[in-house]
Amino acid sequence: MDIISTRNMSRDFIEDVLEKTKKMEPIAKAKKQVDMLKGKTLATLFFEPSTRTKLSFMAAMNLLGGTVVGFDDPRTSSVKKGETLADTIRVVEGYANAIVIRHPNEGAAALAAKFSEVPIINGGDGSNQHPTQALLDMYTILKEKGKLDGLKVTLAGDLKYGRTVHSLAYALSKFDVSFVFASPPSLRMPRWIVADLKSSGISVKEINSIEVKSDVLYLTRIQKERFPDIEEYQRVASAYILDEETLKELGEETMIMHPLPRVNEISPGVDNDRRAKYFVQSFYGVPTRMALLAMVMADI
Ligand code: CP
Repeated sequence: MDIISTRNMSRDFIEDVLEKTKKMEPIAKAKKQVDMLKGKTLATLFFEPSTRTKLSFMAAMNLLGGTVVGFDDPRTSSVKKGETLADTIRVVEGYANAIVIRHPNEGAAALAAKFSEVPIINGGDGSNQHPTQALLDMYTILKEKGKLDGLKVTLAGDLKYGRTVHSLAYALSKFDVSFVFASPPSLRMPRWIVADLKSSGISVKEINSIEVKSDVLYLTRIQKERFPDIEEYQRVASAYILDEETLKELGEETMIMHPLPRVNEISPGVDNDRRAKYFVQSFYGVPTRMALLAMVMADI
């Protein structure tokens, strides 16, 4: 089983992951190793920087008793000598029971899956998808709101290049939600994603300012590294900022999420607000990824 995209993930599959994540949460909290994946090896191939995805996968594998090999700087791998992704995958599958890959190219994880006999997990491919982030986001919403149906969710910031919001929009669309997409006009959600959501019967409203009264306000970083033109980036870099002032307008029960890292979208003065959930959200990456690793490697 590969984990490449949330686009075709079923509601049943998502609910199964969330149920298994709940079982993993006490192990993640206790930081006490079990032997569920003893003898198994995970390869982490990070062709782009990461803190949360890479380290939480490593922590998850370690907690389940497995071993991790990999690289996080392709300049120290044979990619630097011109080795193709296909060849890299064919080699690494011989060293590991599953592979997590993060790559700047859209479709890289799907390509890797074509060449791999072992499960491929997409840790983010360009601006396309970040499915494991979406699943931990879903778990965070479920924990905080007690449900996934009946919610109004605002996705705000860089909806064009932000892979986390692409994955989360598709994952949430399997539930009874309505969306507000808040972004500068140049960073709107891709048209094909909006079309897919609407054809699934999901309500989508697109606006140019932050909607602060939703059940969930999910902010994102403007993805500087994806802009072909730095001046275009500078024009929108400070478009959406949640600070102590805008916090006064926030709904009493609006939870604030962010996949992190943040740049200036959320002022540190917001961190201690009871509605700010982005650090607990990043913690849930561990039990969610434990559940996914166990599913792909131990068939639980
Ligand atoms: N949220 C996320 O993907 O963070 P990293 O880039 O640090 O992995």
